[in-house]
Amino acid sequence: MKTIFSGIQPSGTITLGNYIGALKQFVEMQNDYNCFFCIVDQHAITVPQDPQTLRKNIRSLAALYLAVGLDPEKATLFIQSEVPAHAQAGWMMQCVSYIGELERMTQFKDKSTGKDAVQASLLTYPPLMAADILLYNTDLVPVGEDQKQHMELTRDLAERFNKKYNDVLTIPEISIPKVGARIMSLQEPTKKMSKSDPNKKANISPLDDIKQIEKKIKSAVTDSEGIVKFDKENKPGISNLLSIYSILGGKTISEIEELYHGKGYGDFKGDLAEVVVNFFKPIQERYYHLLESTELDRILDEGAAKANLVANKTLKKMENAMGLGRKRR
Ligand code: AQP
Repeated sequence: MKTIFSGIQPSGTITLGNYIGALKQFVEMQNDYNCFFCIVDQHAITVPQDPQTLRKNIRSLAALYLAVGLDPEKATLFIQSEVPAHAQAGWMMQCVSYIGELERMTQFKDKSTGKDAVQASLLTYPPLMAADILLYNTDLVPVGEDQKQHMELTRDLAERFNKKYNDVLTIPEISIPKVGARIMSLQEPTKKMSKSDPNKKANISPLDDIKQIEKKIKSAVTDSEGIVKFDKENKPGISNLLSIYSILGGKTISEIEELYHGKGYGDFKGDLAEVVVNFFKPIQERYYHLLESTELDRILDEGAAKANLVANKTLKKMENAMGLGRKRR
């Protein structure tokens, strides 16, 4: 069985983008792969976080992973900071990275531009991400399109490590969903939906209540044409809403276009809100049940134990290859 690894940052409330681009894929893949899914809390602190909120977000994300259908019997779910090998291997991957290539990462540019003081960790985020993936001998990484550049760098760093030291690292492939690889902001549909967007109207969360969902969809930016048609370039707002409708409502884009032929955006948005609410209702019920349960802690404890075993093995190989410490027999 091939291995997959992926992670999500507990840097805010999970969005529809994170669900469609990442979580949904994870659940679909868990039957066919040896899976490691991580709550990457050390990545979250690359931008300032309130400690209490971070703790809350970690638990919330863990409950959500399970509520959307992740089965702990099939997949290992764990918290990054509970597996120290990530930080250790992250440092080693930093030592094979060049500042120039890290500065070229668009996420670094986006998050650092215009800031007076930029945390060094924002620059060194990709080598840590590489370590996360490489520690599990990962074959495939399911992510949204925004992570493509980081994934290419992960492959480059792994190849560089193997060439310089020893062939100890598996070179991973990227898996991007065919539809919904980039869900856009509801307020600025040319920008991706992000959980850290300060404008809360820009995001929908799987945990939003009916009123919030209806309000956000109603106020989503569209265009003045009044025709429900997929045209990413000229109608980014409507195209984004069509993608969401198609993925959560189980209809093709052309079926939806046909359904709303001759109708206005009001009808379309009203029905889309219903589709989203109905889709997330059972997930929310499971989420609130799991959130306070001891079952959640048991699953995370078991996940950390399993992840530590695998990660430490690779870490030892990396240390031996690099000549760190004493040779272990
Ligand atoms: N808008 C999106 N559409 C599709 N996929 C998305 N992902 C994120 N946004 C979209 C995918 O979600 C996974 C987890 O992302 P992350 O938490 O590691 O960080 P991110 O990519 O930076 O996501 P956010 O929501 O934008 O977080 P913040 O605001 O904290 O930076 C990844 O697989 C990502 O591709």
